[in-house]
Amino acid sequence: MIKQIHLNQCDSTQDVLKEQLMKDPHTEGMIISCEHQLAGRGRGNNQWMSMPGTLCFSMNLKPHPILSFTAMEMAVIISHFFSLKGKELSLKWPNDLWDSQRKKCGGILIQVHQEILLTGIGLNLFSEDKDFGGILDFDPKIRINKEMWSKEIGEFIVNNRIKDTPLLKTLWRQRCGHLNERVSIRDGEQEVQGIFQDIGEYGEALILTQDGVNKIYNGSLRFI
Ligand code: BTN
Repeated sequence: MIKQIHLNQCDSTQDVLKEQLMKDPHTEGMIISCEHQLAGRGRGNNQWMSMPGTLCFSMNLKPHPILSFTAMEMAVIISHFFSLKGKELSLKWPNDLWDSQRKKCGGILIQVHQEILLTGIGLNLFSEDKDFGGILDFDPKIRINKEMWSKEIGEFIVNNRIKDTPLLKTLWRQRCGHLNERVSIRDGEQEVQGIFQDIGEYGEALILTQDGVNKIYNGSLRFI
């Protein structure tokens, strides 16, 4: 049974979830969602901006058998959720979701606190910002029920986990929007450029360069 707390506003649902779990530990199945997230966090040092069409929620989930695949598993399950609603999303390494115009419409943040996994999910159900994608063809004038959407997606995730890593890798590849494209991945001072060939045994990017295949475990990807 999923327990949900829906707030009008908070700084980050990740922090609220952490506080809740300190008071009331659940092994799995608590959702913290909100109408307005004021200081949302993204991967690395990025911020996550909350817009009128953005869902922001966090859940405590069991990790994928290989921890580093957990965010990719979430991205695959969420793209499956929306494909059942007639919307095909593609995936960008490591854990972004793209709309049909290859604009970012979702992202996953995994944080570990005292062995508890905090899974943060940000999704633009619609977007009025030209730089960001939106998933559905909603009229921005119509108010979306963020509490209901967060619960429906959260429950779908819990009920559709993909524990089988080879299967997950296959599904991720099928939905990846940039296989065999020329990319650059930057992690701090380091940058690797080459062809995005595949993902490896831990979900790392396998980038073909003149020196052979490089394994990149973290970073942000852009196209060159
Ligand atoms: C990314 O694309 O870098 C990850 C974005 C994750 C955003 C979500 S919104 C809900 C949860 N609370 C946060 O502060 N961040 C995550």
